Amino acid sequence: MREVNLLDSYPRTKRPIREREQAKLLQRETARQFGREYFDGDRTQGYGGYRYDGRWISVAKRMQEFYGLGSEHRILDVGCAKGFLLHDFLQVTPGVRVAGLDISAYALEHAMDDVRPFVVIGSADRLPFADRSFDLVISINTIHNLELDRCRHAILEMGRVSRAHKYVQVDSFLTDEQKENFERWQLTALTYFAPDGWRRLFRELDYAGDYYWTITE
Ligand SMILES: C[S@@+](CC[C@H](N)C(=O)[O-])C[C@H]1O[C@@H](n2cnc3c(N)ncnc32)[C@H](O)[C@@H]1O
Repeated sequence: MREVNLLDSYPRTKRPIREREQAKLLQRETARQFGREYFDGDRTQGYGGYRYDGRWISVAKRMQEFYGLGSEHRILDVGCAKGFLLHDFLQVTPGVRVAGLDISAYALEHAMDDVRPFVVIGSADRLPFADRSFDLVISINTIHNLELDRCRHAILEMGRVSRAHKYVQVDSFLTDEQKENFERWQLTALTYFAPDGWRRLFRELDYAGDYYWTITE
């Protein structure tokens, strides 16, 4: 289990926290549907337009090098949304086999053409895959959207379907200010801790993969 930031090349954006906070109570319920409003509605209720812009290419490269992935390997992205990261994995590792799972029918219907055949609807806490079917199981900014008990199952499921590597990234905060910003900003997370809380949960569940945090600045 390593604490390593494999999204260190991912661009950091300034978040309009105040604007979101004012709209938040009304928008939270809508956001949690993970439908069109969350992905492609306005910024107060989610992404404000979740469009491919190539920002995952460097992340896919970083992971490919870090885990030594080649065309013989199989990768699962839990919470794959429109499949941007999987698409980029196919660019940086031609021949690699990819699969994705997401709870959002909207996101999967709008998945990129080359990955659409490989994405399925479902929930992170009940993965419809056999034990040890993937060489790398990734989940980025997804499992904190489940209540604690289901979040635990999601972590166990990542372990079950992986035969080698796992990487999970979750919402967290290092300072009181970051925690306050996170709580003002976030719409969908149900389970979140400071890093120590996450580390304790990972240990308790014998999670043997890698992990890192998404921090709201
Ligand atoms: C913040 S987005 C992250 C998407 C993508 N991994 C990324 O980093 O751009 C959260 C994603 O989790 C998905 N999601 C929420 N609850 C889920 C669940 N129980 N099982 C699987 N996916 C879920 C949402 O539909 C959404 O695509």
